[in-house]
Amino acid sequence: MTLAVEARDLRRTFRTHTGVVRRTRKDVEAVKGVTFDIAPGELFGLLGPNGAGKTTTIKMLITLLLPTGGSARVLGRDVVEDVREVRRRIGYVFGGDRGLYERLSGLDNLRYFSELYGVPPREQSARIGSLLELVGLSGREGERVEGYSRGMRQRLHIARGLLHDPEVLFLDEPSIGIDPVGARELRATIGTLSEQGKTVLLTTHYMFEADELCDRIAVIRKGEIVAQGTPDQLKQRVSGGRVLEVETYGLPDDRVTAVGEVAGVASATLEERGQLQLLVVKVDTGAEVTHEVLGRLGDVRVGRVSQREPTLEDAYVELVSG
Ligand SMILES: Nc1ncnc2c1ncn2[C@@H]1O[C@H](COP(=O)(O)OP(=O)(O)OP(=O)(O)O)[C@@H](O)[C@H]1O
Ligand SMILES: [Mg+2]
Repeated sequence: MTLAVEARDLRRTFRTHTGVVRRTRKDVEAVKGVTFDIAPGELFGLLGPNGAGKTTTIKMLITLLLPTGGSARVLGRDVVEDVREVRRRIGYVFGGDRGLYERLSGLDNLRYFSELYGVPPREQSARIGSLLELVGLSGREGERVEGYSRGMRQRLHIARGLLHDPEVLFLDEPSIGIDPVGARELRATIGTLSEQGKTVLLTTHYMFEADELCDRIAVIRKGEIVAQGTPDQLKQRVSGGRVLEVETYGLPDDRVTAVGEVAGVASATLEERGQLQLLVVKVDTGAEVTHEVLGRLGDVRVGRVSQREPTLEDAYVELVSG
């Protein structure tokens, strides 16, 4: 079976110059040897903080940037040797709303890009019709893009990225700046694409979005992959099988430290929420600490005490911090 994406020790260094009078050269290692596979039909998430190297990785995979080391194949084709073939079979969408023709209608934008991407004229209107349906813009296609909301523009971008019926789709922060309802619709669209058999590589800063959509996730930090697995596997990697949450009022710092020292507690942090504080205690697998933790709080007022499973966000924060 040919993999949809194969990245092998992929690297990219940027040479930058600082200073005007005394120019000094500085190398930025944006991607430092990244290796991962995406199987056909998989929805793969690439998560990481700002500047981690996600966009740089994607740009190498879609042939817009040459790797400075390592190699990558998309659908079995080398991204450096086989640029034309790779481009023919992939689509990409970057977040943000540039790259559309404002004065044209959504439909005319799609017609224009169909010509550009070489969609056979006889297939154009049927293809455009079904894409408008897919992204939920049917009925609005006659309006000028300048009157579209950000969410509508983003969905039009996705339709544009799919015009030449690519097998692999790269979505770099597609939901950035979109309101919750629009983002939910966008997630449904991405889910549908995946169900239709497209391979998708997605980046997002919204952990619940990644949890809901992704089959597998790689977490990248400072140009290196620090964890890879299904959302559930990543959650299980959080030190501690469970999270204990205690609402408190006016808890002094030294008692938070004392809670952190309880046997079976992996970490204790205090989140301020106005008058209320939330003491978040990560508990080692199998440990029973509730009684001991409450004992260490002393005489402060305590509100609700609850236990929950770790979320993908818990796992992510642990993986990218420190
Ligand atoms: N053209 C460039 N010239 C110099 N440095 C660059 C260039 N492009 C990216 N970088 C640097 O490479 C690193 C990785 O950037 P990249 O855009 O890949 O991060 P990212 O993970 O996509 O971040 P974000 O979540 O903010 O989009 C950063 O330090 C960035 O400043
Ligand atoms: Mg980026």
